[in-house]
Amino acid sequence: MSILIPQELIERLAAARRVAVLTGAGISAESGIPTFRDALTGLWANYDPQELATPEGFARNPKLVWEWYAERRQRIAGVQPNPGHLALAALERRFAQFTLVTQNIDSLHQRAGSLAVVELHGNIARVKCSREETVVNEFPDSESPPRCPCGAFLRPDVVWFGEMLPAAEALARAEAAAGQCEVFLSIGTSAQVYPAAELPLRALSAGATIVEINPERTPLTRHAHFALQGAAGKVLPQLVARLASA
Ligand code: OAD
Repeated sequence: MSILIPQELIERLAAARRVAVLTGAGISAESGIPTFRDALTGLWANYDPQELATPEGFARNPKLVWEWYAERRQRIAGVQPNPGHLALAALERRFAQFTLVTQNIDSLHQRAGSLAVVELHGNIARVKCSREETVVNEFPDSESPPRCPCGAFLRPDVVWFGEMLPAAEALARAEAAAGQCEVFLSIGTSAQVYPAAELPLRALSAGATIVEINPERTPLTRHAHFALQGAAGKVLPQLVARLASA
């Protein structure tokens, strides 16, 4: 089923030199990874991610939180990038300046071939010391969670609810891309979590064309010049095909 992509949008994209993209969990949904706000299923159905993905949750029950992330890491290792990820990697090659900012921690953009990826919320494949914040690559899997040589527990190198974004440099790159782009695409995000959700608004106030790709409406929809209500894995390949013949 093809989603109507207005010719005006194709023309604006074809004329653009600088494009910025923000993705959220929705772009990985078609790879089989549940979105953040989907009810957790199976083993984790009785837990609330907003409980588990917090410093307090980890302090309260480090083993439970470590094992939840270990299960998600396992699940992510078993899935593939979907046509939405692949289409964004193709789009990147088409523009002089293309910045892909993601809230996802699953590396699927990089595995699809995207190069300029800015990870705002970290990456589940990385582990760091919960005290020193240094990334640790080797650790014994005897304990759960394992400990840093300093004695503190290791934790996933991802941003938890209530934490400041660690990589100020990543946010600065994302904000610069949003402020300079001619077209900003917000894809697969509920546009509720800041500072990520501020990026399309920054682009809007800088005069960019705002495009949203999401089956549902979000707080951003009313600001978007083009709201394509469909799945990223369906809409993005169509967008790439229309641009190729523009
Ligand atoms: P959410 O789970 O909040 O939102 C996912 C969005 O994707 C929803 O708006 C869905 O409608 C949409 N969606 C679902 N399937 C889709 C598809 N096939 N194509 C396109 N869109 C689809 O996830 P995020 O917005 O990414 O932060 O959540 C943002 C942050 O909230 C996460 O990074 C996480 C959480 O706090 C941290 O972990 C720090």
